Amino acid sequence: MGYPSTRPRRMRRDDFSRRLMRETRLAADDLIYPVFVHEHAQSVDVGSMPGIRRLGMDDLLRTAEQAVALKVPALALFPVLSGDKSLDGREAWNPDGLAQSAVRALKQRFPELGVITDVALDPYTSHGQDGLVDASGYVLNDETVEALVRQALSHAEAGADVVAPSDMMDGRIGAIREALEQAGHIHTRILAYSAKYASSFYGPFRDAVGSAANLGKGNKYTYQMDPANSDEALREVELDLQEGADMVMVKPGLPYLDIVRRVKERFGAPTFVYQVSGEYAMLKAAGERGWIDGCACALEALRCIKRAGADGILTYFALDAATWLKEEAA
Ligand code: PBG
Repeated sequence: MGYPSTRPRRMRRDDFSRRLMRETRLAADDLIYPVFVHEHAQSVDVGSMPGIRRLGMDDLLRTAEQAVALKVPALALFPVLSGDKSLDGREAWNPDGLAQSAVRALKQRFPELGVITDVALDPYTSHGQDGLVDASGYVLNDETVEALVRQALSHAEAGADVVAPSDMMDGRIGAIREALEQAGHIHTRILAYSAKYASSFYGPFRDAVGSAANLGKGNKYTYQMDPANSDEALREVELDLQEGADMVMVKPGLPYLDIVRRVKERFGAPTFVYQVSGEYAMLKAAGERGWIDGCACALEALRCIKRAGADGILTYFALDAATWLKEEAA
């Protein structure tokens, strides 16, 4: 005797039975592609994110066309400004600003493609913080919320389908929701960066949008969450849902999958994960050196994020992953 009484390996023996018991499926439908857009015609590589560029308007439209062709449902737009930065970030709600113009161009050419805009002041402030600061440098909450409301309204007016506040101010979801309703933008969705951690994995993004230099030695500890915390994430998600968020987000991704699971189990709301710039950079760097199989590891990471409970993922791999998935299926 001494045989195993159960043999879990039976189901793993052949491809057909492995496929039959597969619980999680990753599809292009699950992916959102974050894109950087700048004022210049020529696109420019982002050094710390190989394969990612700050796009000129023509390349932005070409990228959108690829997303549509690959059935990636939406783009998340991040403007990169060279000038126009100020203490109060007022360029953020310029109706003819870079983000607003990009939204209009995208919606005109590709009405079926979802366009998500980032609501936060960091691309626009001379100090690189997401909000307005007092003399000591502290980010003021309620004054910032007023600015974010203006910014979100200008995005909705330009035609954004989804506004995504990434600033972590208290009460901003409720304020934005009320303002959108009052202005008649009843269909504009809010994707709340609800559990956004003060993460060092945002480094390459801050290079990409050029806020790193402005931020200098500053940090975002007084508004983004402590990576050591988990219960606090549930309180943040609960508030954002009460205030009118349609979708909630956990950010970053891979090191925070326990949070994703807790959020999905507790609230059952549409839950999104941002696989952030530092996660992308790590996978790309090791892949380029041949230390890991970059493509297999990227797909594995995305599948695991879904398995943890994500309904969708913002990822710089979106177009690549959609292409690989198509090849896999063929
Ligand atoms: C800023 C914002 C950040 C990211 C998205 N929106 C950076 C930050 O909070 O400093 C990070 C995304 C990434 O790292 O890929 N409001």
